[in-house]
Amino acid sequence: MDIITVKDKSFKPYISAEELQSSVEKLAAQINHDYKGNTPLFIGVLNGSFMFFGDLLKSINLECTVSFVKLTSYEGVSTTGVVNELIGLNEDISGRDIILIEDIVDTGNTLVKLYEILEEKNPKSIKIATLLYKPEAYNKSHNIDYVGKEIPNAFVLGYGLDYDGLGRNLSSIYVLNE
Ligand code: IMP
Repeated sequence: MDIITVKDKSFKPYISAEELQSSVEKLAAQINHDYKGNTPLFIGVLNGSFMFFGDLLKSINLECTVSFVKLTSYEGVSTTGVVNELIGLNEDISGRDIILIEDIVDTGNTLVKLYEILEEKNPKSIKIATLLYKPEAYNKSHNIDYVGKEIPNAFVLGYGLDYDGLGRNLSSIYVLNE
């Protein structure tokens, strides 16, 4: 793997496809163990989680259902400022065991907003699985149940993660070359 250029920035190889695959398989094994006998609903957070989600689910041997959501934000007319809306979730999740699948947890803002919106719909449980986690950037107290790999506070690209919309199709992960 070599240094690549995406738009105006250069990125160097960081996590190989093989290492990603082994992290994903370890996570799947933990989830298979923890949810044995249950029928969880896996909810993928678009766009970034699509590759991780696909690979993870191939190693899940539970009876399960899947769904995808997107968090949109717009300026509200009220004094509260930015309003977040969850789109894509059509089914009833009450009483379900939810496993929320994220590409990366950075500050944790996205995760907490998603969690709050899902919690209002009365699921039985909600757990969070993320491929990557930046502990130095995380400023929430919410527990993250399944983490593929902890990384330093650097900008990464590939395997679903983008820089300005580009690079999501790369099969391994790169880090900004500074
Ligand atoms: P948070 O709300 O700060 O935790 O950020 C979560 C979202 O920001 C992720 O779902 C990504 O879409 C994006 N993000 C955070 N860090 C990176 C990165 O290093 N590369 C690409 N996208 C990132």
